Formats: sequence, structure tokens, C-alpha cells
Amino acid sequence: LWTSDNIIDDLVDKVRAQVGSAKVLLALSGGVDSSVVAALLHKAIGEQLTCVFVDNGLLRKNEGDMVMSMFAENMGVKVIRANAEDLFLTRLQGVSDPEQKRKIIGNTFIEVFDTEAGKLKDVNFLAQGTIYPDVIESAASKTGKAHVIKSHHNVGGLPEDMKFELVEPLRELFKDEVRKLGLALGLPYDMVYRHPFPGPGLGVRILGEVKKEYADILREADAIFIEELHRADWYHKTSQSFAVFLPVKSVGVVGDGRRYEWVISLRAVETVDFMTARWAHLPYELIERVSNRIINEIEHVSRVVYDVSSKPPATIEWE
Ligand code: XMP
Repeated sequence: LWTSDNIIDDLVDKVRAQVGSAKVLLALSGGVDSSVVAALLHKAIGEQLTCVFVDNGLLRKNEGDMVMSMFAENMGVKVIRANAEDLFLTRLQGVSDPEQKRKIIGNTFIEVFDTEAGKLKDVNFLAQGTIYPDVIESAASKTGKAHVIKSHHNVGGLPEDMKFELVEPLRELFKDEVRKLGLALGLPYDMVYRHPFPGPGLGVRILGEVKKEYADILREADAIFIEELHRADWYHKTSQSFAVFLPVKSVGVVGDGRRYEWVISLRAVETVDFMTARWAHLPYELIERVSNRIINEIEHVSRVVYDVSSKPPATIEWE
């Protein structure tokens, strides 16, 4: 019988049988999958679990603090926060090609994670939030069919020579099952049903070269958009919604003067499988409220646009 409690008991038993009294390391991203693994392993093996959370400076507003307060403070999970914003931004300096940016972010992630892992003693197991669709996708990409998504998370993203045995308790589960487990394990609804967020984060939502100034502006704009979506009860009617930073200067008027500031695009889509998607038909009043707030509250934004492109031929992300 498929109930979350049955599955949890079963997975807890399996994890215990696999790792015994050994120590386990988990890269916690704050996304649904790794969060559910963290909660599950905490239940199964408690103190034997150590999580590493890499703050790459490309996260959404308050995301790092939220992850720390939820897991470390509320649940008592051991979490090491690696503040690596400077390193990531330095590596990204002068790079504007999207695939290049993805590679740099992915490699830097592995490097930071490795460094943190290297400081821990006697860790034999590496846990990952691999779910069934990742397994399928990874198999497809080996035959050259799938494009390079999830390029640094989950299956196949870690160095060949890593000497850990993998613990992948969600490997046979679909996303909706993982979400149900998350709720049953006590994770908050808002975290379990949060929109997906790409591994390279804001790095691919800032078009072209990534700069801290851009990331800070984008974080604020994105937070306003998401807040208003929640307030209007539209967040869960869309599958993925976010702001994009366009590094072009557009004119606006302030008092008697003209100012040239950045442009923010809002993106919201409805999709079942993320392979095809329709732009969300948000109410005009909602878009208007978001636009007014972004322009009024963020000094260096002069214009907000709404993306009305469907996938295909457009993609969901802008890079
Ligand atoms: P696209 O833009 O290809 O996005 O229509 C489809 C889904 O994949 C996510 N995405 C990524 N996820 N690393 C990730 O982990 C990536 O490099 C990446 N690129 C796109 C995107 O957010 C959407 O959910």
C-alpha cells in the first residue's frame, strides 16, 4: 500500500541497512529533492548526517538564511554553510556565454563542496536527491538525446574519483511522491511545493556577464514578483515564475529629469512536464502591481516587461 508513512518506514530501514553507523554527507541546495533527503536521513540516522549548503551568491532573496533556519535551527540537522559568493562571482567575471557560465558555476560548486567534504573525517557515504526522472534523463543524455540540464546537480554531476558510496533514497520516486514524503516528514508546504529553481540559479537569469550589482537588483525584483503572486493566489497556478535581469539601459522620467536604468522581465509559465509550456495569463492588475512596485522600490530599474513567449520555440529560462 502506498502511503507516505509506509514509504518513509521502508526508506528509513533501507538507509540504516546501507550505512550502518557510518557518516553520510549531503549537498543541501534548499530545493525539494535534497531537502526531503535531508529530512529523511535526519530521521533515519540523525547525527551521522552532515549537510553542506553552498551559498554561491546566486540564490534568491533570503534563501540561504531560510535553509539554515529551517534545517539547522528548527530541525537540528548538522548543516555547514559555505559562503562562497566572492569565489563564484570572481570566476564568473568577464564570462557571458550561458553554457560557459553553467560550467563555471558547476565546477566551482564541486570545488567548494569538495573542500568542505575534505574537512570532515571518516565520511564514507554521499547522499543525493536523485529522483526517478533524473535517472531516466541521465540515461537519455548518455545516448546524447537530452540536453545539458541539471548540469551540476544529481546524477553524474560529481567527480569520477570521488571515493564515496552513494545513498539515493528517492531514486525510485516521482516528484509528486517526493513532495508527499516531504510533507509527511514535517517540511512546510511552501517549501515542498516551491517552483523549481535551476542549479546555476540567478547566474542564468542575469543575461550575459554576472555581477553582484545585477544579482542584488534581480533578487529584489524576483522577491516582489513572488510575493505578489502569493498574495493574489496565483503562485500555485503557475508552474514556474521568476524575474530576469536584462543588462540594457532604458529611459525613465524622474521629476524633471530622465534617467537610464536597467530592465526587468517577468516570466511565468504553466506546464506539466517543462518540455512544453504556455506563458501564464496573469491578470493585468497583478502584472501592473508588480511592475509599479519594482519600478518604485528598486532604484536602478526603469522598466518592467512581461514575457509572452511559449515553449517551444522559446525556452522557460532566458539562457
Ligand atoms: P528550459 O529553459 O530549458 O527549462 O525550458 C526547463 C526547466 O529546466 C530548468 N533548467 C535548469 N535546471 N540547471 C538546472 O538545474 C540548468 O542549467 C537549467 N537550465 C534550465 C528550468 O528552470 C526549467 O524548470
